[in-house]
Amino acid sequence: MTKYQVRGGVPLRGTIQISGAKNAAVAIIPAALLVNGPCRIENIPQISDVTLILQILQDLGAQVRTINRTTVEINCSGVRNRKIAHSTARKIRASYYIVGALLGRFGWAEVPMPGGCDLGGRPIDQHIKGFVSMGAQVEVVNGIIKAKVPDGRLSGGQVYLDMVSVGATMNIMLAAALADGMTVIENAAKEPHIVDLANFLNSMGANIMGAGTDTIKIRGVDSLQGGCYSIIPDQIEAGTYMTAIAAAGGEVLIQNVIPKHLECITGKLREMGVDVEERDDSVVVRRTGPIHRTNVKTQPYPGFPTDMQPQIAAVLCLAQGTSVLTEGVWDSRYRYVDEFRRMGAQIQVDGKVAVIEGVRRLTGAPVHACDLRAGAAMIVAGLAAEGVTSIDGIHHIERGYESIVEKLSAVGADIQVVYVPDDEVNSQAG
Ligand code: EPZ
Repeated sequence: MTKYQVRGGVPLRGTIQISGAKNAAVAIIPAALLVNGPCRIENIPQISDVTLILQILQDLGAQVRTINRTTVEINCSGVRNRKIAHSTARKIRASYYIVGALLGRFGWAEVPMPGGCDLGGRPIDQHIKGFVSMGAQVEVVNGIIKAKVPDGRLSGGQVYLDMVSVGATMNIMLAAALADGMTVIENAAKEPHIVDLANFLNSMGANIMGAGTDTIKIRGVDSLQGGCYSIIPDQIEAGTYMTAIAAAGGEVLIQNVIPKHLECITGKLREMGVDVEERDDSVVVRRTGPIHRTNVKTQPYPGFPTDMQPQIAAVLCLAQGTSVLTEGVWDSRYRYVDEFRRMGAQIQVDGKVAVIEGVRRLTGAPVHACDLRAGAAMIVAGLAAEGVTSIDGIHHIERGYESIVEKLSAVGADIQVVYVPDDEVNSQAG
């Protein structure tokens, strides 16, 4: 088993380059299924979720050519519609985008229910409601989402989402791009990756208006043509490094970001006494003084992102005073709290609310990364803690962070990958 080992207490100094956005890439890659001819996609992050979604496309018959480290060319002209293996689909949440894309292109799709981080219930009823509004018949049988359109082509529909859902918004956009007529999504999500998917599809010939607002209109077109597109920088990766600097102290230039996308994070960090200087496509993050307490509530964009909740919690553990953290998106996103307690954090959780009593110091401990962002938060906590934190379950972290060890090492963090023989791991189990 491999673990990350972090020795905390070293202020971070230097430059970090942000990769392409995971949650944009895992929707834009399936969108290539709708396109005739080769799509060249740039600024692809090298993370395991991207490897998996590319694998699903290849299993369907797509040709995927690596142009360089961050660019792939995908040609789905020869794709044949077929069933997808349970084992692959269950490893990743974004496999649900294959349903919208195949339904839009072929008029039917059979895709196993998706996997992804365990954040409490993750229903897909809003995705299904959208497909049904476009004339599809959808059922879930033996763990497989089976969707089909009786006459082979979806027709434009009108759907009001009962809650703001990123996945449902994107999936309906995918299905509607080639539908017959206009689809309207009301109460749509507004995350930067929603706009990125719309920009990708529009650059290939789609007609999508209003992405980034709560009403999105998609006028279906007959076909999409290949082209070249560059994915936006990852808001959450950048935010994670911002919290790492807030926790460990120091000064770091974070490059290849869209500062506007970071405002929800920047605002909170400033309240906490962290200096954030915005430039055109970078931010400088600096902390030299104490961390101030604050309250944080996660919300859909432009609110504070749920995918930054564990990382900001790591910083609040070291703030002067008591902070209240409220999870406004997921039922259960505090599974990491017990791990933080091993490091000396003082946190009480009641339902969706966590009350964090700041402590003077955290101390290194063996901890388990129970999901992607929780794992990232353990690195953030470990960077500020006294002594050594060893983190297992790192496959979760590698799903969404490209070269995290290398990027942090380059700004002076003492972090490394260590190999622990399995018999040693087993002897620790109990
Ligand atoms: C996306 O998940 C992200 N995943 C998540 O990031 C992120 O936490 C989430 O959006 C919110 O921003 C990907 O993009 C692959 P939702 P998604 O549909 O689309 C409820 C990470 O760490 N809901 O916006 O699955 C749902 O239960 C991951 O990168 C329904 O009830 O989230 C939740 O409470 C973790 N029915 C809320 O809506 C539905 O049909 C928002 O979920 C759909 C959602």
